[in-house]
Amino acid sequence: MSAEQTLILVKPDGVARGLTGEILRRIEAKGYRITGLRMLTADRELLAAHYEEHQGKPFYEPLVEFMSSGPLVAVRAEGDRVIEGFRSLAGTTDPTGAAPGTIRGDLGRDWGLAVQQNLVHGSDSTLSAERELGLWFS
Ligand code: TYD
Ligand code: MG
Repeated sequence: MSAEQTLILVKPDGVARGLTGEILRRIEAKGYRITGLRMLTADRELLAAHYEEHQGKPFYEPLVEFMSSGPLVAVRAEGDRVIEGFRSLAGTTDPTGAAPGTIRGDLGRDWGLAVQQNLVHGSDSTLSAERELGLWFS
């Protein structure tokens, strides 16, 4: 059986702040293997598919606006239980409350904006990892 894979995004705030290398370093330092890497500016169509589950929520429009505002880095990472493991490395959604030691907890905070600019995305299940990898690495 091949190793588990997940989709990670270094969001536009992470790229703009020059944190791409630091985030990739943490992924590799944990022992996960990077097997795909793409820098792109995502269009609304791709983001609508990626954030399908959030369509209609109050933060959806600002989220798509933010995510399409500049280049991001898409990462395919591989390793035992990498889906759960990267979610743990990333920390909770709200960076203000995210635990120190996590990417969001160490590097992110609430900038008082309409949307959480929380540096990274990580797939939350095997089903969404498969779906999201198909969107970003087809
Ligand atoms: P979600 O999938 O709930 O969080 P996570 O990224 O931890 O899986 O939400 C997707 C993104 O939407 C989240 O990273 C930031 C944004 N968001 C907000 O801006 N406000 C909110 O209240 C929520 C729940 C999410
Ligand atoms: Mg999510």
